[in-house]
Amino acid sequence: MTKLSVNINKIATLRNARGGDIPNVVEAAINAERFGAQGITVHPRPDERHIRYSDVYDLKKIVSTEFNIEGYPNEEFIKLVLEVKPHQVTLVPDPPDALTSNAGWDTIKNHDFLKQVIKKFHTSGIRTSIFIETNIENIKYAKETGTDRVELYTEPYATDYPENKDKAIDSFVKAANYANQIGLGINAGHDLSLENLEFFIKKIPFLKEVSIGHALISDSLYFGFENTIQMYLKKIHNGLN
Ligand code: PXP
Repeated sequence: MTKLSVNINKIATLRNARGGDIPNVVEAAINAERFGAQGITVHPRPDERHIRYSDVYDLKKIVSTEFNIEGYPNEEFIKLVLEVKPHQVTLVPDPPDALTSNAGWDTIKNHDFLKQVIKKFHTSGIRTSIFIETNIENIKYAKETGTDRVELYTEPYATDYPENKDKAIDSFVKAANYANQIGLGINAGHDLSLENLEFFIKKIPFLKEVSIGHALISDSLYFGFENTIQMYLKKIHNGLN
């Protein structure tokens, strides 16, 4: 079964816009789980413009499903993750000023760095995933870093989907099949939505997890948080049937 991990960064963005504590991110995580989310994802950035480091410590106390922390593994991030000990850490190569994650790792160039960082997390019993594009060579070298999983960066799929969904999914199916064959677990995320999620799951049914933030939180404005989470779960369910 593919798990739905709800990325709550946008809740923090909204809170930070006013400087107070509305909406409260801890409450949002508790409710997301109550409404059916099977995981909570956060992506603290060095400037703390969305999720703050202190939020991550607060969330650790209450998340009862799978806790996934994403981010660029600088020294501060590594320290945070090792202290919080989430179920999973997803390593993302985004520079501090990136608006959002916009590329996967070059696992050849960063092989030694990733291997060393992944070892630190494994020593603490934390599962690792690395954010990656569909290039087969990158996936091959991802395996050699020792990571447990890869997260497929799905923005190109989402962009191409409206024009030609079969063409949009093609490289993702090839990448996922290859990753599966060499023993990597596969997650996916970025710009997945009510429109494009079901087809993605249908074509890659062995996907372990999708992490979804922007579209899901935006849909909640119209459908409500509970309904929206249920609608995403239904898309996953339909994709698997
Ligand atoms: N996965 C990673 C690594 C991300 O950085 C993000 C965005 O923070 C997501 C998934 C979720 O993407 P979206 O907000 O577009 O659903």
